[in-house]
Amino acid sequence: MLRHIISMRDFSRDEIDIILAKAKEFEPIARGKESNLLSGKILATLFYEPSTRTRLSFETAMKRLGGKVIDLGSIESSSVAKGESLADTIRVIGNYADAIVLRHPREGAARMAADYSNVPVINAGDGAGHHPTQTLLDLYTIMRESSFSGLRIALVGDLKYGRTVHSLAYALSMYHADMTLVSPRQLQMPEVIKKDLKKQGASIRETTSIEEVVSDVDVLYVTRIQKERFPDPAEYQKMAGSYRITGELLEKARDNLIIMHPLPRVDEIDPAVDRTKYARYFQQSFYGVPVRMALLAMAMEAA
Ligand code: CP
Repeated sequence: MLRHIISMRDFSRDEIDIILAKAKEFEPIARGKESNLLSGKILATLFYEPSTRTRLSFETAMKRLGGKVIDLGSIESSSVAKGESLADTIRVIGNYADAIVLRHPREGAARMAADYSNVPVINAGDGAGHHPTQTLLDLYTIMRESSFSGLRIALVGDLKYGRTVHSLAYALSMYHADMTLVSPRQLQMPEVIKKDLKKQGASIRETTSIEEVVSDVDVLYVTRIQKERFPDPAEYQKMAGSYRITGELLEKARDNLIIMHPLPRVDEIDPAVDRTKYARYFQQSFYGVPVRMALLAMAMEAA
């Protein structure tokens, strides 16, 4: 069956647990053990927006599993620059590859692409919409570095435009996590998402103060203020630097706290925090490889 990966809302808790378990099996291959599981398969990567981790961890995952990758390259050097539509681009690339990874600035673009595709489409981020593969690696990080049991987590920063926190909040509600949403009032989680979460029985509270929550949580999930999504640059300037995780703030932290961040960071985590026992964000970026291996194997029906 053609299985697209578009939103966390398309997954059940059981399916997520299976993917996380599969990712654990793939960890030795992510660290360099040989595999030919996807030998003969081709993955196409189409990034209409910048990326470092998502693009390169998908590429690493595919290559370490023995598969090959073709990349659209920069938008300026492809026929997108001549005005080719996303629908036509997807139809054509489906003739060349066994799955397509797509990042696009327009919310809903991945869902639309899936409608035109004869191979699985994997959403690598659609505007301020969703980023499900990031969420799966975030969940994997929590499983490996913390625990879902009685999990108390604070999502911090730009909860309005940050697609990683939208996807993650949906998933965390399936794990009955106690969520605190920490953001400036102007960057609160969209009402429609909060309503959905409450309908699912999620425990959420909102605050503007990180000091208020830092001593209460097991996970601080910190996000960047999404400069590129602000219609007015002056509004971004007002929000920039709203939160900064520092050694001083962490003096109140629980012993078992872990700090996560989807990266890239700008200035929301002091680099001195990297050397503390709390930092997990670079480990988190590694976990993208085994998780994306599990997703590719599933999409290409190899596992
Ligand atoms: N976390 C994340 O999506 O990073 P990139 O934008 O570098 O892919």
